[in-house]
Amino acid sequence: MPDTPNRSPSRSLAAVVLAAGKGKRLRSKTPKVLFPVCGRPALWHVLRAAAAAKPTKIVVVVSHGADEVIAAVRSWDVSPAPVFVDQGVPLGTGHAVLAARRAVGRVDEVLVLGGDDPLVEGSHVRDLLRVHRRTKAAASILTTEVDDPGGYGRVVRDGTKLIGIVEDSDLTPEIAAVREMSTLVYVFRRADLFRALPLVGRKNRQREYYLPDVLGILIDRGERVSAVLGDFGGWAGVNSHETIAELHRILRARINSRHMANGVTLMDPSATYVDIEVKIAEGTTIYPNTFLEGITRIGRDCVIGPSVGMLDTRIGDNTAVYFAVMYGSRIGNNVQVGPFVRLRPGTQIEDGAKVGAFVDVKNATVGAGSKVPHLAYVGDTTIGRNSNIGAGTVTVNYDGYEKHRTVIGDDVRIGSDTMLIAPITIGDGAVTGAGSVITEDVPAGALAVERAEQRVIAGYRRRKDAGARAKRTAAAKATGKPKGAR
Ligand code: UD1
Ligand code: CA
Repeated sequence: MPDTPNRSPSRSLAAVVLAAGKGKRLRSKTPKVLFPVCGRPALWHVLRAAAAAKPTKIVVVVSHGADEVIAAVRSWDVSPAPVFVDQGVPLGTGHAVLAARRAVGRVDEVLVLGGDDPLVEGSHVRDLLRVHRRTKAAASILTTEVDDPGGYGRVVRDGTKLIGIVEDSDLTPEIAAVREMSTLVYVFRRADLFRALPLVGRKNRQREYYLPDVLGILIDRGERVSAVLGDFGGWAGVNSHETIAELHRILRARINSRHMANGVTLMDPSATYVDIEVKIAEGTTIYPNTFLEGITRIGRDCVIGPSVGMLDTRIGDNTAVYFAVMYGSRIGNNVQVGPFVRLRPGTQIEDGAKVGAFVDVKNATVGAGSKVPHLAYVGDTTIGRNSNIGAGTVTVNYDGYEKHRTVIGDDVRIGSDTMLIAPITIGDGAVTGAGSVITEDVPAGALAVERAEQRVIAGYRRRKDAGARAKRTAAAKATGKPKGAR
């Protein structure tokens, strides 16, 4: 679309987001506008697009699950802060917009978005507004072509001229072949919108007041209506579990494309699952079967995957993570994690450290250059710098009632299979003997060993074997059976 910026400050805009519908087809307790899509509820994505249009106000129309929807929206800190309108019994998208009339007030333009249409982005809305203003239209709608528009409204044109939108449930066979579908993304001149809306009837299969019918009414009155056809890499709403799967596929492809454009290597984008707010710096490579979720940040030149799950985790530069899951963790630069590692909230792995294979870490710091190389549990623990934790070590942090801390200093050598019974402190440079159960603090530089003395019994095996042979011979004689027979 050619860019004709029109920054007339006199034009005020209100955004109306429709979020009152029930979502019968999902069979879910969650209101459908709160269904999660790439890490955030559908409505969050829609409100982000609405806010990008810089409206003077945002109105959210609610009804089903209103309390839950309102609480969610308030938690997102959207600006301007949305006001809520209760639609009562939802009788269709036209009815929903009419319910918002007073809240919209005396603005010039009204942007209408469907709360279950989360593929809409700020750039789409801004492009639509630009065309709407340039064409001096009374109403403008965003449309797109998809392979299977089943379930959505179809855009009916005579040549290029828009005639109107026909809902899926009201299709005639000729219109069913149309592949151009209507999104729920509209801009209206406020006065025209609220003049036409009361004229919308409900003579359709769903007995609903359809917002798209406003377009036909305006066209009949000789008003200009723009249907702006865009390519968004597909389109799908939160309607059924089938459409949600399609929606995820489309949004995932968009997110992955953005990361690749930013210099991230994705070995197989179709097997890379990245939430909407994740940030990845350039030079990083992601191997397949990797899930980067929540507020996750990854630095430069890292190698992540295969088979990594990460939630709300921050990673520095030049770090390698493979076959691992981690939540709420912070990992520094030049760290190695994996394979088969779990990092739970409160974990901090500092620069140059190494964790894995088969290591479980929780609420613990592994200091710079320290290593927990194999088969260990490290919980509620602070490990200093350049220490080594031997295979099979357990920080015994739980006495059945309370959790206790383990503090390990710098340059410590914890022997394999050491049980560190917390609370306990191991001083700098200290050493523990393999297999020890350490119950008391170990001073700096000391060795602590806790082990029964080893006994060596010479000739044991030869005597034991001879005794067994003699027993078998005696038994065979007693039964008359040859040796070895049953
Ligand atoms: C709607 C459009 C259709 C478009 C499709 C794109 C209408 C009549 N149809 O169909 O042209 O192709 O979106 O995804 O507009 N809602 C209310 N109050 C109501 C009814 C709905 O707030 O009384 C809200 C719903 O919560 C939902 C949105 O409006 O977020 C759309 O409603 P839905 O019933 O899903 O419409 P579709 O059949 O998907
Ligand atoms: Ca829908």
